[in-house]
This record gives sequence, structure tokens and C-alpha cells, in this order.
Amino acid sequence: MTARPRVIERIAELRVTLDGERANGRRVGFVPTMGFLHAGHASLMRRARHENDVVLVSIFVNPLQFGPKEDFAAYPRDLERDLAICAREGVDVVFHPTVDEMYPEPMKVTVSAGEIGTILEGRTRPGHFDGVATVVSKLFNIAGPSRAYFGEKDAQQLVVIKRLARSLDFPVEVIGCPTVREPDGLAMSSRNIYLEPTERRAATVLKTALDRGARLLTDGERSGAKVGEAMRETIAGEPLATLDYAVCVDPVSLDEPAEADGPVLLAVAARVGKARLIDNMTVSPASSRDARTGTSASEASITKG
Ligand code: PAJ
Repeated sequence: MTARPRVIERIAELRVTLDGERANGRRVGFVPTMGFLHAGHASLMRRARHENDVVLVSIFVNPLQFGPKEDFAAYPRDLERDLAICAREGVDVVFHPTVDEMYPEPMKVTVSAGEIGTILEGRTRPGHFDGVATVVSKLFNIAGPSRAYFGEKDAQQLVVIKRLARSLDFPVEVIGCPTVREPDGLAMSSRNIYLEPTERRAATVLKTALDRGARLLTDGERSGAKVGEAMRETIAGEPLATLDYAVCVDPVSLDEPAEADGPVLLAVAARVGKARLIDNMTVSPASSRDARTGTSASEASITKG
């Protein structure tokens, strides 16, 4: 399982390779990434390895999903380290195209994520989800996977991709996987590398706010507005964090629920130093077990999206 994966940079070569696999009845499981891999990415690969004959990982920092003032140029990259992680997880093929290979000319047709792409993350990052929907559509068309794996860490992205696959009839099963965290609760992210040591400690405030919101719900609070307020107050109490949003929303529509009477998604975003961090948790107010683990409720709700 530790053989180095085959690295392919060309679209045409990837197509021929995977066509050959499919001709032999082998099914492709796909994990799209932007690289600088960590244990969260590895958990997606492990699940893909378990469920498919061929595991494909893409490593491509997609310029289309970065705003003009965002960190496209600075986004961390380390292909050798990434390949070692892929090898360890038994990945067969790594697709690592250049920007020119993916976008040889300015895009003439793009995919819109629709209205859901304009709220929450989309409000602060206009065009971000259109860029994600466009590159994931291209990757699905190039790779033809049977299954594709995405992290619940990016809950809104997962909702967008499920809608994309359904709306455009991509013959792929979109699978959401639980968020992998550091021992102190911080959700793993390639962008955590930007945090200075004091900021790294402050960054745990996102998870603290989610835990507070979840506790309120399991203690009987039903006002989504009050839960959001409590989470905002928690983040405001951390001087190194600048709040973007902290809300209690419906896990499928991402609309704010007036009354939290079913599963809800608690979602937070804040800037800490140079890093913009996001986190979320699905909570079923009816069951305190779900609130603490954030697992079974999220399966019941997010994966339906
Ligand atoms: P990237 O941020 O590299 O993430 C790749 C996948 O890993 C995403 O599905 C993301 O949700 C998942 N992931 C990240 N951190 C995780 C964690 N702590 N636990 C579990 N899963 C985690 O998301 C993207 O890249 C891009 O937008 C992409 C989909 C590749 C399109 O360019």
C-alpha cells in the first residue's frame, strides 16, 4: 500500500488511463483537493480506498475560486509531501495539472452554484462557489468517477456539490465525510499553517462557539437567532479573532430557521491573523448524543442535501 501513486499532469492521459480501468470493470473513487494534505484529506482517501477499485486524488489549486484579494499565490504547496501521504493511503493515481492545462484560455462557459452560492461563505467570497462548481464539473467530466468524497468541514461546499451533481445529472455519488480535528478541537485545514502560535491557540474559539451553540440546543433552546447570538458573543470574546458570521441554519437549504425543531447546522467563520477559518457542526435538538459527536445527525441531514 505504500507504492508511490502514478502522477498524471495531462487531461488526455488521465482519460485514457481511467477509460482502461473502467473497461476492466473497475470503478473509480475520486477525492478532489488543493493539496498541502493533512489528516482530513487522508480520511477521505481512506474511505475512497475502502469503497472503490481505483482511487484518484486531484491536487490543483484552482484560481477560479479565489477572489482578487485572496491567497491564491500564497496558498501552501508541497507536492512531494502530498505524494508521500497519498502513497501511505494507497492512492493509485494523482492528477496534478497545471493551470494552463485546466484553463488553456479564459473560460467561455462556467457553472453557477446558484443562489446558495451567494450566502454565508459566498457573501464574503463572491464568485467562490461558482469557481468551485466549475472546476468540480470539469474534474468530474475528466475523471468519470462513480463516487466522489468531500469533507463536511466545508458544509456549504458539500451542499453545492450535491446540488451540482443532481441538477446537471453527473452520474456520481457524492459522499460527505466527517470533519477531522486537532486534539484541541481545531478543524484541520491547509490554512492553519498561516497561524502564529498565539493565533493558533485563539483559533480554538470557533469550536468553543459551536460547542456552546450545541449545548444551548440540547438544553432546550429553540430560537435559532439566540443560538447564533451566543456563538457570536463567544467569538467576540477572543481578541485575536474577527467574526465573519455565526449562524444556526437549515442543513439542506442553509436558510436561517426561526425555530430549531429539527436538525440544524451551526456554521461559523472568523479571521485569525492571516487565516480565514470556518467550522460547523450538525446538531439534532432532539438528541444530545448527536450534539456532542456531530456525527449521526449530520449523516441524517447533510448527506440528504
Ligand atoms: P481542499 O480545501 O484541499 O479540501 C479538499 C477536501 O478535503 C474537501 O472536500 C474538504 O471539505 C476536505 N477537508 C478539508 N479539511 C477537512 C477536515 N478537517 N476534515 C475532513 N475533510 C476535510 O475543498 C477544496 O479543497 C476545493 O474547494 C476543491 C473541492 C478541491 C475544488 O477546488
